[in-house]
Amino acid sequence: MTNLYDEAYEKSINDPESFWGEAAENCFWYKKWDKVLDDSNKPFYRWFVGGETNTCYNALDFHIENGRGDQVALIYDSPVTDTIKKYTYTELRDEVAKFAGVLAAQGVTKGDRVLIYMPMIAEAAISMLACARIGAVHSVVFGGFAAKELATRINDAKPKVIVSASCGIEVKRVIKYKPLMDEAINISTSKPAKCIIFQRPMETASMIEGRDVDWVDAMADAAPADCVPVAATDPLYILYTSGTTGEPKGVVRDNGGHMVALKWTMKNIYDVDAGDVYWAASDVGWVVGHSYIVYGPLFRGCTTILFEGKPVGTPDAGVFWRVISQHGVRSLFTAPTAFRAIKRDDPKGELIKKYDLSNFKYLFLAGERSDPDTIQWSERNLKVPVIDHWWQTETGWAICANCMGLHFFPVKYGSPTKAAPGWNVQVVDPDCNQVKAGEIGALVVKLPLPPGSLPTLWQNDKRYVESYLEEFPGYYKTADAGYIDTENYVYVMSRTDDIINVAGHRLSTGAMEEVLSDHPDVAECAVLGVADDLKGQIPVGFLVLNAGVDRDHSEIVKEVVGMVRDRIGPVAAFKTATVVKRLPKTRSGKILRGTIQKIADNQEYKVPATIDDPAILGEMEEALNSIGLAGSRK
Ligand code: COA
Ligand code: AMP
Repeated sequence: MTNLYDEAYEKSINDPESFWGEAAENCFWYKKWDKVLDDSNKPFYRWFVGGETNTCYNALDFHIENGRGDQVALIYDSPVTDTIKKYTYTELRDEVAKFAGVLAAQGVTKGDRVLIYMPMIAEAAISMLACARIGAVHSVVFGGFAAKELATRINDAKPKVIVSASCGIEVKRVIKYKPLMDEAINISTSKPAKCIIFQRPMETASMIEGRDVDWVDAMADAAPADCVPVAATDPLYILYTSGTTGEPKGVVRDNGGHMVALKWTMKNIYDVDAGDVYWAASDVGWVVGHSYIVYGPLFRGCTTILFEGKPVGTPDAGVFWRVISQHGVRSLFTAPTAFRAIKRDDPKGELIKKYDLSNFKYLFLAGERSDPDTIQWSERNLKVPVIDHWWQTETGWAICANCMGLHFFPVKYGSPTKAAPGWNVQVVDPDCNQVKAGEIGALVVKLPLPPGSLPTLWQNDKRYVESYLEEFPGYYKTADAGYIDTENYVYVMSRTDDIINVAGHRLSTGAMEEVLSDHPDVAECAVLGVADDLKGQIPVGFLVLNAGVDRDHSEIVKEVVGMVRDRIGPVAAFKTATVVKRLPKTRSGKILRGTIQKIADNQEYKVPATIDDPAILGEMEEALNSIGLAGSRK
């Protein structure tokens, strides 16, 4: 017997043009598309070619014209500043139009890039929507990245304007954003013409005359700007994500496909209607923040929550329940690590009992593998379906999910359920042959990818093809490994590259190794993601020192930890490293990362047949023991 999911899935794969063409009818277009899917330039596919629209219009003005002007569009809830501020659709549109006017007055026009380096304040979302309004391309950079990472992104995106704030607020400290921005601009080769700074009361940033503009002053006499029609295929934003080297990848999102896909997901995956309150507890610096704090809920006419706080410590592990009950949240989306943090502080869920969660219907988890323990704890304590779904910065929305607006499938722990409509997910071997059900292989998606997924990397078609399309011709490589069972449930097991997931944040161990190698005493190094109860994984560094180095190892470790924090940022959570005499390698010189990882994670391992010298594994165990890993945790 078929259900709505089966029907939708079948149509999306066999007749994608009519499937997505129908979905696009729910959006506003200045000019309808000539073709839903243009596949004339394979492997580059384009959606809604010839169409003209505006993302900001669809997120805000559209709803005002349809009678939602007085409905709350955005709630800024900030336990760290003890503030709750609500914006109706009309108020938000007016703020956005004014800030769009500010950008226009600084010479920003369609196609120009604007870099946004901001904490979780409403002005961050206002800046994003203002860019969309005038057809500028925003690039939001997460606040936890250091100046050097910011500089890399400035050099690649070449923004005309940077929008920032004086500071962000973490649990235990105020983070001065402005000096980080200044330092990044100093070391970057591309320089913005202007910087617009939002001064927060807890920290006043010094301004550079002629370059820096105060947000409040500029808004005071800004003329609101109207929406500018853009091509469906024009870029809406660039979002940098970790690649396998220190150079991040600039994932591009278009306007038309993104709008159509996200609006469709709100009902069909998340089961929310216009007027419902939807909360993604993430950060606007990540893809979850782009898709589900800002754009998706607003396309749908929901009330979205922008939360400046943490799951624990602001002030306690009950804050999520406070927000859900106070604002009547229907659906919460966060990373499993947030729930592990809550569970650690309030194992019995006592704080949940203090709040009325009667409006709360679903918990969605993504960003890393959801461990069954966390899902079951959440199910038991919240008594709502807990939906694991799998996606990536590149895909913009879920590749696999239990689509709650279509059909609820019984949950199988460890699986994000089935491929979402639009995603033809398969498992292949290294020769690109499909493997049998239950066999592990590379998770790939048959081209074309659905609307909303990346059309390319920013000004780098070559890297796009090399990174994602070359290895398995005709398919998009997710770089995740896993399997599909006989009932079409997909299981995502691990990355096939050097990306690790630390507290739901995607990081490259290769990029960390590049930093460690720069230390004058380090001859060779490896960084691995080791299992961690709270953060899922944490990076651990192994250092082989240059011959003759006779310094205190703990000093060297302290220095490399500092270097990663300075160059990549605190978000890397790189706090553990150890000095080893040598690294286990194959006879051809490849570091045996998998084996080291197994030792660190206390898993059984086989001595690889190709190992150069098996005795080294004992040395590794000792080294791992010395930093509290391996055998010591058995
Ligand atoms: N600006 C500046 N610094 C930041 C930052 C930001 N926006 N976000 C995090 N940092 C810093 C933190 O202060 C911390 O620094 P520290 O080493 O001095 O303590 C470091 O980066 C690591 O932060 P974080 O990963 O948040 O770890 P944590 O130990 O402070 O908190 C959790 C752990 C689980 C509570 C936290 O990671 C969390 O809330 N995760 C939710 C996951 C999430 O939002 N994922 C996004 C994808 S859905
Ligand atoms: P990001 O681009 O930061 O969203 O990270 C994407 C990566 O996170 C994926 O390639 C997976 O490795 C991992 N990931 C995200 N969601 C899930 C999930 N539900 N289950 C398993 N892994 C996930």
